[in-house]
Amino acid sequence: MDPARRAELISRLGTTVAIDGPAGSGKSTVSRRVAEQLGIGYLDTGAMYRSLTWFALDRGVDLEDRRAVAALADELPLRMDSHPRDAHVWVGQREVTGEIRQPRIALGIPHVSTNLDVRHWMARDQRRRMMEARATGSGMVAEGRDITTVVCPDADVRVLLVADAEARLRRRTLELFGDDTPEHVEQVRAQVEERDRADSTVSEFLEPAPGVHVIDSSTLGIDEVVQAVIDLVDADLLRRAETDA
Ligand code: DC
Repeated sequence: MDPARRAELISRLGTTVAIDGPAGSGKSTVSRRVAEQLGIGYLDTGAMYRSLTWFALDRGVDLEDRRAVAALADELPLRMDSHPRDAHVWVGQREVTGEIRQPRIALGIPHVSTNLDVRHWMARDQRRRMMEARATGSGMVAEGRDITTVVCPDADVRVLLVADAEARLRRRTLELFGDDTPEHVEQVRAQVEERDRADSTVSEFLEPAPGVHVIDSSTLGIDEVVQAVIDLVDADLLRRAETDA
């Protein structure tokens, strides 16, 4: 679609794009690129779980104390800018953009992401952010594990991004080591398998819910995946513009 026409439709109708997928499916890169191309906001919901984990560790709260961690969510002074190219995260005055990617956070996250009270809080907050963005004549791309199913099952476009296990493992190894030699791949294998296991206990994100579009990025380049999502957004905008007229 012509970008000017798309921008006009987005400002008139608003749009929410939900993208779920496992680690290594490419969803962060794809989500950022889609948001940038559409000129709308970007929400990294994983960064929210990471920030709460950071906050709990900073406060010395026992991550296994479910009630205490859930109560902490209400106090979380989280600030995220939604610009897709340069997304920053603050907890209070402290910028934590880099720190929330540290291994100590990754180790603590499963305690936080399996806490159902925390998930409930997160879903409500994430949904509010998406709906506010849509209502202000723009929109948001949100990526995570449960956006298409729990957070925003009524999103205008819902995508499950999948990739076969070997492709995901290769991407993660490249990210960590800068190469994908068999030795490095084997070192990362256990980590990726463990993370898939932990993630799958809290949300079913490897099977699409009804109405969710599946895109397999195993053999597609990033540009092709981005284009496939944009095509879905365009089709949705045109459909809504017609019923609106
Ligand atoms: O996408 P990520 O790697 O930054 O996510 C960090 C962790 O948070 C990951 O282990 C899964 C969890 N998560 C979740 O349970 N639900 C979401 N919507 C997003 C992330």
